[in-house]
Amino acid sequence: MKRKLVSIVLATAMTASLVACGSSSSDTTTDTGSATEEKAEESTEETAESTETAEATESGDVANSEKPLVWFNRQPSNSSTGELDMDALNYNDKTYYVGFDANQGAELQGQMVVEYLEAHADEIDRNGDGIIGYVLAIGDIGHNDSIARTRGVRSALGTGIETDGAIDSTPAGTNVDGTATVVQDATIELDGTSYTVRELASQEMKNSAGATWDAATAGNAIGTWSASFGDQIDIVISNNDGMGMSMFNAWSKENAVPTFGYDANSDAVAAIAEGYGGTISQHADVQAYLTLRVLRNLLDGVDVDTGIGTPDDAGNVLSDTDYKYVEEERSYYALNLAVTADNYENFMDATQTYAPVSTQLDSTAHPTKNVWLDIYNASDNFLSATYQPLLQNYDDLLNLNVEYIGGDGQTESNITNRLGNPSQYDAFAINMVKTDNAASYTALLDQ
Ligand code: BGC
Ligand code: CA
Repeated sequence: MKRKLVSIVLATAMTASLVACGSSSSDTTTDTGSATEEKAEESTEETAESTETAEATESGDVANSEKPLVWFNRQPSNSSTGELDMDALNYNDKTYYVGFDANQGAELQGQMVVEYLEAHADEIDRNGDGIIGYVLAIGDIGHNDSIARTRGVRSALGTGIETDGAIDSTPAGTNVDGTATVVQDATIELDGTSYTVRELASQEMKNSAGATWDAATAGNAIGTWSASFGDQIDIVISNNDGMGMSMFNAWSKENAVPTFGYDANSDAVAAIAEGYGGTISQHADVQAYLTLRVLRNLLDGVDVDTGIGTPDDAGNVLSDTDYKYVEEERSYYALNLAVTADNYENFMDATQTYAPVSTQLDSTAHPTKNVWLDIYNASDNFLSATYQPLLQNYDDLLNLNVEYIGGDGQTESNITNRLGNPSQYDAFAINMVKTDNAASYTALLDQ
């Protein structure tokens, strides 16, 4: 009888410390020890023995392959077909993805452009040729967010061509004469006048070294396009603000051509006052929170929904208009908001934490843990100007000691080389260069 009781107490103590701990040997927290001791005290006779076992357990490392892992911003998926990489998303039972709802955002961006056309019908056709011409900057042809945005714009404007049930997202190259096969001319009725809508040109903005979503490349492209058919360009559209602002600054601001982006970076939001057409907030404040919050919960050994759909002990909670969780995909998706001349003043600081989830966690109940996190491209506008500053605000609130690694945006090994000793960390947050490459990271955790 007594034997049995002892082993039950020990088993409980071990579970408690395994779940709550997840700490590396460099982690000096003693909290889990005391939680375990509390349990041990329940059985007065065995206190000494239990404590001993608990300490032994605490110094034993959790295997890296068992640690919490969050993929973010670049969802593990096949870069040609978009099919999710469920092996990577189910790497262990503490693996999740955090991003945003790409289709809902893409639809919003398309709608925003159409609404702008409707509201500016009398001035939109700059050269009066009866054609509303637009150019489109594409971020990364193998990135599902980029693909969704290209589709969203083409779908709203009617220029998309459906193949196999989905709108073709292939760049059109130059299409001034309207003969491209991946897009088509559309017709739109504005204020009783019928116009042709034409995608004059679109291109993936990839530089010669291989970096995608490349702002400088977009700035050059608008230079080339405007030099040869500038008077035909009535609207500039971009898969993101980094490229959009580069085109705005290089050409469209001076020529008063409305330019639309995505991300709601602070500089783009401010530019709305100077004629930038609008942008979409992918609720980076919610995504950055979720990225670290999911890790926090897994490290605490509590329900993953804590502080997300269910208030935590500090009162932090999101609402269902902020995000959605798709269980089969192990993915949290923040919801998007359109940012236009009507509401941009509320979005001026993109790096401010989201008020409903901005309360500091207690450091006794949620002791400091070490997290390794990489940003795939240190010079990506959105990730460096908006996402990382947000992460840095939340890491304090969540008592996480995060090591930030900035990649070159081109090669996975530039990042993986800097995960030399995963055992030093309690959890990982990964932003891949290429969405197909999850295994380059999990291989390191498997060792
Ligand atoms: C952002 C882009 C960014 C990309 C990086 C997207 O969600 O909208 O601006 O370049 O993520 O992966
Ligand atoms: Ca025109």
